[in-house]
Amino acid sequence: MILDEKGCGYVKVLVVGGGGREHALVWKISQSPRISKIYSAPGNGGIADLAEPVSIQATDIDGMVDFAQKQSIDLVVVAPDDPLSMGMVDALNERGIRAFGPNKRAAIIEGSKVFSKNFMKKYNIPTAQFEVFDNREDAIAYLKTCKYPVVVKADGLALGKGVTIAETFEKARDAVDDCIVNKTFGTAGEKIVIEEFMVGPEVSVLCFTDGSTIVPMPSAQDHKKIYDGDEGPNTGGMGAFSPSAYYTHDVANFCMNNIFIPTVEAMKKEDRTFKGVLYFGLMLTDEGPKVLEYNARFGDPETQVILPLLDTDIIEIFEAIIDERLNEVEVAWKNDKAALCVILASGGYPRDYTKGYEIQGIDKIEEGTDLLLFHAGTKKENGKYYTNGGRVLGVTAVRDDLETAYEDVYSHIDKIYFKDMFYRKDIGKRVK
Ligand code: AMP
Ligand code: GLY
Repeated sequence: MILDEKGCGYVKVLVVGGGGREHALVWKISQSPRISKIYSAPGNGGIADLAEPVSIQATDIDGMVDFAQKQSIDLVVVAPDDPLSMGMVDALNERGIRAFGPNKRAAIIEGSKVFSKNFMKKYNIPTAQFEVFDNREDAIAYLKTCKYPVVVKADGLALGKGVTIAETFEKARDAVDDCIVNKTFGTAGEKIVIEEFMVGPEVSVLCFTDGSTIVPMPSAQDHKKIYDGDEGPNTGGMGAFSPSAYYTHDVANFCMNNIFIPTVEAMKKEDRTFKGVLYFGLMLTDEGPKVLEYNARFGDPETQVILPLLDTDIIEIFEAIIDERLNEVEVAWKNDKAALCVILASGGYPRDYTKGYEIQGIDKIEEGTDLLLFHAGTKKENGKYYTNGGRVLGVTAVRDDLETAYEDVYSHIDKIYFKDMFYRKDIGKRVK
């Protein structure tokens, strides 16, 4: 690390991942006065304008550790779920490299639904009633006793596809067969959770935590379904906004005392101290807020609306979390602002789609601190941008209220064009 005359260090950062979330992270990191260089592995077309791309896949632990060591990286930010669950942070730390993100023992809170459900039960953290199965006969016998709809979940990481909401016994049985008999999700589906179906608005609350101090970020809502009105199959997320009107001061207090603090304390008690971003997927039911899922990382596309609201230097927050002194940092937000992001996707996503179409109009978007274009599945070649994934771009606006942010985002989307471009027209308009 290079030190200035005051002993303040300038850091070389490597960001692992290559989606819209990582572009938002790199964008925020690039504003830190303490940065000397940013690398991104593997990155994307937009990230390449801010960070040096490195062609190492996000799950290549050995490749990433070797690169970080060779380049004397001061801080590695591990953003996606897979490398966290595989132990990338542990591998980096073993070679003396500082890394932001939970270690393998802590990342299990996302990596295994069986772990997280049993954990919540043990510590009385509100969540849906559930049972765990690893054989078909017992699961089917249990399904015959259930109220419908019922929810069937693969234990492990399944690219967001391991959850089935089954309205009928037959559909639930097919979901069990998919996991246990057909092994659609490989080892991730060897065990399953069958749980009660909950009803209510869904809110995401991401928290910075060093294992003791918890700093919640502004609440957000994402839109997982492909079509307007929350119709069609699930996607990685078609848009998001922040804050959520459902997440009132009283709800926030309840969640802090009955969900966030108990979770972080219990993880420490289990010798799984969680350091990083802990994402609480919440459902606000008639019986009160309950945990739908935990994620061990920033959400996508939530990050694209939350980080534009953050005033504090994110490097300062990351370093404080690693050193377990988050209590010393005053984390400031634009509390009087709202942010909204709409994802522009490839036609056919989340099923089959074509890559490699030229993207036009990116230069017509006048970016600033209140209008941002985050790349996801894009690549840059000879100065031009091409589609390279299902979710291609995210347009974010930061305004005084969600209504204005909505108008602003949609008025800019018209400037962008690529063949078969598709996007939802109702982001932030959902009333449930
Ligand atoms: P998960 O990956 O566990 O977050 O599940 C994906 C999505 O499925 C969630 O965002 C919810 O919309 C829905 N979901 C999961 N579990 C339940 C449940 N118990 N009741 C109702 N909806 C659920
Ligand atoms: N937006 C949901 C997720 O990142 O898992």
